[in-house]
Amino acid sequence: VGQENAEYLVSLIRSVPGFPKEGIIFRDFMPVLADPKGLNILLQALEEALPVPADEFDAIAGLESRGFLFGPTLASRLGKGFIAIRKAGKLPPETIGESYDLEYGTASVEIETEAVAHGERVLIVDDLIATGGTAKAGADLIEKAGGKVAGFSFVMRLDGLDGIDKLGGVPTSSLVSMP
Ligand code: PRP
Ligand code: ADE
Repeated sequence: VGQENAEYLVSLIRSVPGFPKEGIIFRDFMPVLADPKGLNILLQALEEALPVPADEFDAIAGLESRGFLFGPTLASRLGKGFIAIRKAGKLPPETIGESYDLEYGTASVEIETEAVAHGERVLIVDDLIATGGTAKAGADLIEKAGGKVAGFSFVMRLDGLDGIDKLGGVPTSSLVSMP
């Protein structure tokens, strides 16, 4: 990423103590997207910090909601398509689902059964990894749908939650770490 760019991204991330629950410091990257220079650095840095070379995956899958904000743009820059992993109940059948725990609750995600081609290699993207519950559920869905998870790419990782340890040694990148 480069120290200067990492510092610029961190300077734009907004920290909100007590949201959505007491004891959580919410790390909000929306101001990065709102800043023209920040958005450009973000996309460039994600592309440069890919956990595996772009010829080692076929598609990008994004986790709702925040993985949807840059996943399709990154996919387009790399000449790939985008697969949506949605919160439960939003997609028409047929879907495959997975429930999980995250830093501040529990949730379920779903994917369309036909969204992943057999043996397709998928890079999963999201803004942030905390406990890793969401990313792991997304990976399980890709595998259940017949694909293979080639890597994970995050904007932020939260220190001290061991989220990346849940991901089974699959190559992972993150641009900045936050306490
Ligand atoms: C946030 C974040 C990640 C997830 C990380 O999403 O965007 O998807 O939590 O937490 P974990 O590593 O502990 O699983 P959230 O579920 O709040 O949904 P949103 O993107 O729709 O706001
Ligand atoms: N998802 C899980 N934990 C989070 C946090 N601290 N800030 C923003 N999104 C999150």
